Amino acid sequence: MAEVNIYEGALDKGLEGVVACTTAISFIVGNTLIYRGYTIEDLSQNSTFEEVTYLLWNNKLPNKTELDSFKSELNKNMTLDAGFISVLKTLPTNVHPMAWLRTAVSLMSHWDSDSNDNSNEANQKKAIRLTAKMGSLVTAFEAIRNKREILSPKSGQSLAWNFMYMLKGTEPDADTVKLFDTCLVLHADHELNCSAFATRVTTSSLSDMHSAIVSAIGALKGPLHGGANEQVMVMLAKIGTMEKAQQFVKDALAAKEKVMGIGHRVYKDGDPRAAILRKFSKQLTAKIGKPELYEMSALIDDTMQKEKGLMPNVDFYSATVYHAMGIPTDIFTPIFAVSRVAGWIAHCMEQYEKNRIYRPRGKWQGQEGLNWKTVDAR
Ligand code: COA
Repeated sequence: MAEVNIYEGALDKGLEGVVACTTAISFIVGNTLIYRGYTIEDLSQNSTFEEVTYLLWNNKLPNKTELDSFKSELNKNMTLDAGFISVLKTLPTNVHPMAWLRTAVSLMSHWDSDSNDNSNEANQKKAIRLTAKMGSLVTAFEAIRNKREILSPKSGQSLAWNFMYMLKGTEPDADTVKLFDTCLVLHADHELNCSAFATRVTTSSLSDMHSAIVSAIGALKGPLHGGANEQVMVMLAKIGTMEKAQQFVKDALAAKEKVMGIGHRVYKDGDPRAAILRKFSKQLTAKIGKPELYEMSALIDDTMQKEKGLMPNVDFYSATVYHAMGIPTDIFTPIFAVSRVAGWIAHCMEQYEKNRIYRPRGKWQGQEGLNWKTVDAR
């Protein structure tokens, strides 16, 4: 039977250029990214992750009292429930940390008495708990798989400080905390990216916040989205030396393979976050005595621009930054979640405020008019 199109609507593969909702959280304006009106250059230089999270959720920067109280709330909520930890310890750890994290966040809802309450009051509490605990979960995974004690967060310290402390077991120095905090600021939101859209799609059925965040983690995990930062490090290790970098890129392009951390759906003249991370990558790789990692990255970046006109995205230089900070490669994408949860929650809240369920159509390419036959007649 001939193919019949029953729906003649426009087909936008990957929804390129489709406007799916109105939003006031973050946006790509010209060649920069803004969160609630402030540029990423301004915020990454002057703000902190806690302040940016407050900004994303409340549409204004906090005053001192508001910020102190917000930081204290986050800090108090970083601790994982003992019963929850004992269940987490029973989960296999020979899986990708993002798979473990996806399960752990879903499980977390069973210890949250507000999990099924979608009121604004309950959502405010869940927003704090989810954001505060994301880093504690990632570091708990690292402790469990290495058969180390799960450390408790220290009071009075920031999310960035506690993440590095609980990950490594030693108190981090001020420079490391500042740099890591800036990375969290840079990753906190990015308008209608794949995982933010996943958050909004799940929220649009009036499902609960934990479900929306689990959807987002699943979307972030993929190598075309957040999973790219891990794959950049894997790629650099595979290339091995500077001499092989250019040929690697040319071979990848000839084979129509993606070079990880390069390209973007929206930015065509470069991702402003990559420009900031590039500087950090240069400084940090030199500091740990591995400048060749930055040089190899810069050569790949350069070759991709010359050969294909494509620029690096946020994941390209963050890989060498995290590596130089001594973070295990498969923890790179979970770190993305530790930051991006702030943005996902802002999208979840905005979606609840002016909700209409997402229900697009597909362009029909299947068969029609078939008649069912008994199993023996097929
Ligand atoms: N390496 C090689 N070629 C790439 C590329 C990459 N990283 N990114 C895009 N291209 C090429 C495509 O092959 C295509 O080429 P063609 O027109 O000759 O067929 C063209 O550029 C357009 O790419 P397309 O995949 O259609 O762009 P997109 O908007 O659908 O995808 C990304 C955007 C980010 C998913 C894509 O650039 C990509 O896969 N990058 C690598 C993964 C990554 O870093 N993801 C993190 C995103 S923040």
